[in-house]
Amino acid sequence: MKTLVIVSHPNLTASRINKAWIEELQKHDNIDVHQLYKVYPDEEIDIVSEQKLLEAYDRIIFQYPLYWYSTPPLLKKWFDVVLQHGWAYGPGGDKMKGKEIGVAISTYGAAESYQRGGANRFTIEEIVRPIEALCHFISASYLSPFALSDVSNVTDEQLEQSKFDYVNYIRSIMTVG
Ligand SMILES: Cc1cc2nc3c(=O)[nH]c(=O)nc-3n(C[C@H](O)[C@H](O)[C@H](O)COP(=O)(O)O)c2cc1C
Repeated sequence: MKTLVIVSHPNLTASRINKAWIEELQKHDNIDVHQLYKVYPDEEIDIVSEQKLLEAYDRIIFQYPLYWYSTPPLLKKWFDVVLQHGWAYGPGGDKMKGKEIGVAISTYGAAESYQRGGANRFTIEEIVRPIEALCHFISASYLSPFALSDVSNVTDEQLEQSKFDYVNYIRSIMTVG
């Protein structure tokens, strides 16, 4: 199955994790990478072109660094303008129906901080729940998220391992619910 990875990172030149992941993904024939901030430096999204792109894939992964427990702003805008009534939902809006959608995020917070009683209070699964909810709304299948936490302490070896794990995740992800 061919996968489209939609990357949203406002400052890739300063990125370590997402940049490394992109470079890894680009080595794989069945994975295409679409970098929103690179394609739309002015943040003016070509809606028709995005919709056509999505229609060509059965599996879509949203990759981004966690920003204030949410997505970077261009990805939020992308959801707002691309997932249109009559295209993604509503009468005749079945273009995302049955597609598989996953999330790959990096976080500064450590894995143990993302749990009940932890410094960040909520689990990663809970934090990405708006994407799970939108998947349900547009009749897509939601895939359990992939995350790399505690990024400031990730060693080069752990980063290498995460690249391998991420590609495996894309190849073998399980649908939630
Ligand atoms: C504006 C902003 C908001 C951030 N919010 C969070 C956050 O809510 N939780 C968290 O764990 N890390 C947060 N971070 C840290 C980033 O997630 C982290 O720097 C990023 O995942 C590292 O990936 P990179 O090396 O690809 O840039 C934030 C960073 C910035 C710049």
